[in-house]
Amino acid sequence: MNIKLLKDLDYRNKKVYLRVDYNVVENSKVIDEFRIEQSLPTIKELLAKNCSLILASHNGRPEGKVEKSLSLRPVAQVLANLLKRKVSFIDDCVGQEVSAEAEALKPGEIMLLENLRFHEAEEKNNSLFAKSMARLAEVYVDDAFANAHRAHASMVGVPKYLPHAAGLLMQKEFETLTGLLKSPRRPFLAVVGGAKISTKIEVLKSLIGKADIIFIGGAMANTFLQAQGFDVEKSLTEPDLIDTAREIIELSKNKKVDLILPTDLVVAKAVKPGANKRTVEVGKLEKGDIALDIGKETMRSLIPIIKKAKTIFWNGTLGYAELSDYALASKDLAYLMALRKGKAETVIGGGDTTAFVEKLGMHNRYSFVSTGGGASLELLSGKQLPALEALRT
Ligand code: 3PG
Repeated sequence: MNIKLLKDLDYRNKKVYLRVDYNVVENSKVIDEFRIEQSLPTIKELLAKNCSLILASHNGRPEGKVEKSLSLRPVAQVLANLLKRKVSFIDDCVGQEVSAEAEALKPGEIMLLENLRFHEAEEKNNSLFAKSMARLAEVYVDDAFANAHRAHASMVGVPKYLPHAAGLLMQKEFETLTGLLKSPRRPFLAVVGGAKISTKIEVLKSLIGKADIIFIGGAMANTFLQAQGFDVEKSLTEPDLIDTAREIIELSKNKKVDLILPTDLVVAKAVKPGANKRTVEVGKLEKGDIALDIGKETMRSLIPIIKKAKTIFWNGTLGYAELSDYALASKDLAYLMALRKGKAETVIGGGDTTAFVEKLGMHNRYSFVSTGGGASLELLSGKQLPALEALRT
């Protein structure tokens, strides 16, 4: 699939409607600057070509109502600091005042609109709403990869009415993630963790046949262990997905993919800091044990595989990483992958995993760190994303 890129668009000296994903404000505070930083290359490129910029984003899920704590206002300041330029903030995203401000915007000037989801028309993909936003600008650029799985007005409506293209971030996300499925350097190791198989079934199925080795960690490994007949005691599992886990194990055998499960686990009797933790072999959990991380033996066995791999993709933390006691395997993996930068393509697959490496201050130590959570999973599952479809023609 081809999407229109910035190089295909005549944007020099133009007024640009730039859709970004600044879904980063909670309780009136920017909780994560990563997505804002990742939007800078496109913004700088457009400014270098004498454009004026109208930035639009959603934030949170206010369901069509104005919720002050979800206003994008705090982002304007953060962006202004990063760009070292003024960013004006406009209290709405459509209406007379917005049109007048957009009209008056001069080359090199930037304005950020208020949260698109304060209007229910955004999520309903209302065409009148899309048209009124399109009227603000001369061209449309979409850099909101993290929202590309949502068929909302600002994602799929506005590009119907304006010449359009993907921004540099959208392009990089699209090329890197689809590149993993199309032409990975081999051996290709995929590490998939997280709490639930239910959110990863499609990705796992898609990766089987593409990756050479798949390691499963996180609480979702418990259901796979159960599928193999191990007792995981009080660990989190999804009993109704045991058959699905079996199917995935079978599928990987048929496709000759090496599906690796943990051989030892860090367990405790309660999910809280300070609870006595022990490391036990899989199959040797005691009554009341809860698996909360992957054991050292398992991590050690991954080292030679990581050292050989030419592509490493990681999505989903390996343990209950919210508590530092159970973040050790994930930390090990973050470091082991970072050591491979330059020797292998190392890709962090968005969502919690991106937040985790960011918290470690390591997000610059990989080939690519995706800004997308749900969007990157859907793209890797082989699904068509509405916003990418809208950028095709
Ligand atoms: C995200 O953060 O994953 C995107 O901005 C999409 O947000 P949503 O799940 O609220 O649609």
